[in-house]
Amino acid sequence: MIGELLVQGGTVVDPTGTRRADILVVDGVVAAVGEAISAPAGARVLDAGGCLVAPGLVDLHAHLRQPGMEEAETLESGSRAAALGGYTAVVAMPNTDPPVDCASVVRDVLELAATACCDVHPAGAITQGRAGTRLAPMAEMAALGVRLFTDDGAGVQDSGVMRRALEYASGLGVTLAQHCEDAGLAAGAHLHEGAWSSWLGIPGMPAEAEELMLARDLALCRLTGAAMHFLHLSTAGSVALVRSAKAGGLRVTAEAAPHHFTLTAACAASYDSVFKVNPPLRDDADVQAVKAGLGDGTLDAIATDHAPHPQEAKEAPFDQAPPGMLGLETALSLALAELQLPVEEVLALLSWGPAAIAGLEHEHGGPLTEGRPANACVIDPSASWVVEPERLASRSRNTPYAGRRLTGRVRHTLLRGEPVVVDGEAQR
Ligand code: DOR
Repeated sequence: MIGELLVQGGTVVDPTGTRRADILVVDGVVAAVGEAISAPAGARVLDAGGCLVAPGLVDLHAHLRQPGMEEAETLESGSRAAALGGYTAVVAMPNTDPPVDCASVVRDVLELAATACCDVHPAGAITQGRAGTRLAPMAEMAALGVRLFTDDGAGVQDSGVMRRALEYASGLGVTLAQHCEDAGLAAGAHLHEGAWSSWLGIPGMPAEAEELMLARDLALCRLTGAAMHFLHLSTAGSVALVRSAKAGGLRVTAEAAPHHFTLTAACAASYDSVFKVNPPLRDDADVQAVKAGLGDGTLDAIATDHAPHPQEAKEAPFDQAPPGMLGLETALSLALAELQLPVEEVLALLSWGPAAIAGLEHEHGGPLTEGRPANACVIDPSASWVVEPERLASRSRNTPYAGRRLTGRVRHTLLRGEPVVVDGEAQR
């Protein structure tokens, strides 16, 4: 029993607008919203003075590593990191061991999710074993509530398989999400192909490895009429392709990751594999294009691509280390600071935009109005903090922002009215 809780003194920012309001939560549901609500006797009061009160953030793209890779992350540690970052829902990627490619593994993840610090929605694989050849049993996974399917970590290379997958997904009312990477062009690459890969002598992946698969899939969307979501787009060419696809009426959505609008390939000059990620860090022109795409509605969401890896794996030389970086605890601060967009637009990209793509808008990312589930985060926009890897909740330490001072931090997070983060501290 959660009882009564008052979020007091904040400014509510949600899809309906921005206003000064307190929020009274009773048994996990928003019971009243208004100015100067007085706390009922016995109610817990959370101070939101000077803060923004927003629907909880929704991450379309996190690697929580369970089952099978628990040394890197678990649903418990990953969801704690998510809650500290302001998230109340996270879509967990299926490139686990075993992969989430059938009902029994979906059930395992849902069982672990029951005690997580935020809602965890497993994405299912498009193909069996994420091997790209035979379709996974999407219907049995959809019957358990899976709404997003992807072979993330790899793109589906075979156009015929992808066409059939899109037709099948349309019939089921689920969405396919593509990791756009042409395996032939990307083979052997560890960095973006450009000036930095030449100078550093690290084999590069051309922007076209992403853009070719994106262009193919846009053509397949046109052929099948299916909707599709594009994961972690990173190049100026990709942003332009999505912009014209949307102008042409295709039902597509797309996301970008914070590292693709805050870092460039130049970071790899240290040969530190903490900067190795897939798709790779690109050039400044790409960073500017991703920012522009987030600002003009071409890109619908910011997704973390939170990809924890054990320290010993990331300490390997650049060409041997696995790609990926942490993201859940830094995404909000980076977006607030780097995008230079009104806070309402930043929150749309982090909360209600992704909630709609994941089909979670009834529970997450919706307006903070009476009768809605109290999934919310309280953000102190002026809090200044330094990223200290050893203080992150993730089991892994591979943040590329170590030592960086960020502004804006989550003060409290409510999951169905339960304060899972209070004053920046996880409560479970
Ligand atoms: O950098 C990445 N890491 N990109 C991916 O697509 C997969 C991810 C991982 O699972 O580590």
